[in-house]
Amino acid sequence: MCGIFAATGESAVADVLVEGLRRLEYRGYDSAGIAISGKGGIAVRKNVGPVGALATMLESEPAYGECGIAHTRWATHGEPSARNSHPHCAPGIAIVHNGIVENHGELRQELAARNAQFVSETDSEVIPWLVREELMRGEKPWAALQKAAARLSGSFAIAMLSEDEPGEIFAIRKGSPLVTGFTDGKAFLSSDLNALAGIARHAIALEDGDSARITPDCIDIRDHDGRIVNRPLLPVESRIATYDTGVHEHFMAKEIFEQPEVAARIDAAYHDGTLMEQLLSIDFSRVRRINFVACGTSYYAAAVARHWMQQHAGIECTVHVASEYRYEALPQFYSGEVAVLISQSGETADTLAVLERLQHLGMPVLGVVNDTNSTLARNADMALPLMAGLEIGVASTKAFTAQLMILAHLAIHATGRRLGAAASPGRLRDQLASTPDLLAKALLCEEGVIETARQLGDARSAIFVGRGPFQALACEGALKLKETSYIHAEGFAAGELKHGPLALIDEHMPVFALAGDQEMMPKLASNIREIAARNGRIHVIGDREAILSMKDVATGAITLPSAPDLVRPIITAIPLQLLSYHAALQRGLNVDRPRNLAKSVTVE
Ligand code: M6R
Repeated sequence: MCGIFAATGESAVADVLVEGLRRLEYRGYDSAGIAISGKGGIAVRKNVGPVGALATMLESEPAYGECGIAHTRWATHGEPSARNSHPHCAPGIAIVHNGIVENHGELRQELAARNAQFVSETDSEVIPWLVREELMRGEKPWAALQKAAARLSGSFAIAMLSEDEPGEIFAIRKGSPLVTGFTDGKAFLSSDLNALAGIARHAIALEDGDSARITPDCIDIRDHDGRIVNRPLLPVESRIATYDTGVHEHFMAKEIFEQPEVAARIDAAYHDGTLMEQLLSIDFSRVRRINFVACGTSYYAAAVARHWMQQHAGIECTVHVASEYRYEALPQFYSGEVAVLISQSGETADTLAVLERLQHLGMPVLGVVNDTNSTLARNADMALPLMAGLEIGVASTKAFTAQLMILAHLAIHATGRRLGAAASPGRLRDQLASTPDLLAKALLCEEGVIETARQLGDARSAIFVGRGPFQALACEGALKLKETSYIHAEGFAAGELKHGPLALIDEHMPVFALAGDQEMMPKLASNIREIAARNGRIHVIGDREAILSMKDVATGAITLPSAPDLVRPIITAIPLQLLSYHAALQRGLNVDRPRNLAKSVTVE
């Protein structure tokens, strides 16, 4: 999604801005641009397409200066075009903006009536014109930005240049992240801390409502009430994370194949339960209900965790999609109720809105989050790190299995707390310890998956079914397939088919049956037979035994290693991820950056 990068104190700032934008590319975008304060005023260069195209443009139309702002845009208001890309300008002002200005329609009308000249269709373009009006009233640029931002509804992270103060960057945020960074005589600003790795020695995250004035030697921050504040220093990685695919062709493949290593890292850190004890300030022996909240793939991880929590720890759980839960009428909470918010990025706008809402209501919030410097990690009452490493492919893969690993450890911890040794938490931990090895074995199914992807041919739809936790995996498999290959796919509880979806079945419909829930195997088998009776093309995904039990009705099978109950849902993710990867490749699609999607969904 949109990204901001800005720098001051750099002798050739254009190069630094382009490098900053490259570091934001993985988030997904459709156009890129920069503005530089130079001798002749502010120079703007922007273009639709990749950052590389902007870099080429800068070779023929260079822009010189020491201070600049830059942006990658993911279109929300107005098509991807040079005109709509950022920076947006008013005389003497250039801004870049992440977020959405919800009242842009009325502001646009009001400003146009006072001679503002809009050239784009974006919501963001009202911002420089609001700032300009404040400047005309005699405000200095920093105060002008604060006053302009006070007129905006919605969420924003804004970086601004003003011809009145060349060499300075002004910034303000509400609901969208911004991080400043500095090193000797240079200062930076970005929407993503990872972009500062190796170039800033220290970083400071702006808090909601903060604004900043950034010069090469000094970063001043004011809070929402205009008081000068000191915010804590954050560690910055000394080296940029490797943005290469290693021996793989794509980030998605690299991240799929990293999963055994990630699981081993997690197990080493969480296995003896000490880390969980240190990080949790919740006494699970008293918890009466857990409300899981997340989006997309993280939501499906929550849906699996619900089964584990209820089955092992006996704690009632609810699972919610954050975009709905942030607005839903909420029941009266119990005193022993907690929320678990799950997010790879820790910056998903809907999930953060839920965080704010629940904290306001006084409910303890546990974050399960990959980016430990993200807003969720910083603002949740406590956070469990996923330890998956940077995930670049838009389709979440290693973060999903890492979420499952951590949530399984959380369920074991809660089980031990509530039921003591009688519940054998040690046995469950031993089961989980076999995950890295079993993930490695599961990856051996790739050849079979390539063939299955081929058999999909030009299928336009696919169905995934499962029972128990495998229903959530069916939905995750469908999400993965649609996002990378653009094949329409749905996941269902297998028992639900006859209540409607069975009407979709004919000889052209591929159905993937996730045969992982051993207790429910006979039930799944009869659901599968109902599909077979209607000529559906059934691919069974499970261990040898499960496949044998459905041999007579299956068109194809993907074999997984036998695994303990707790681990089976985790390894079932592997063929689903590989299927979506290979189906996309076979269709010639960009697996790492599917159309219309962004890695970090920072707008509502
Ligand atoms: O960063 P988050 O985990 O909060 O992101 C949530 C979803 O946007 C994300 O999982 C999305 O569904 C993935 N692209 C799915 O592969």
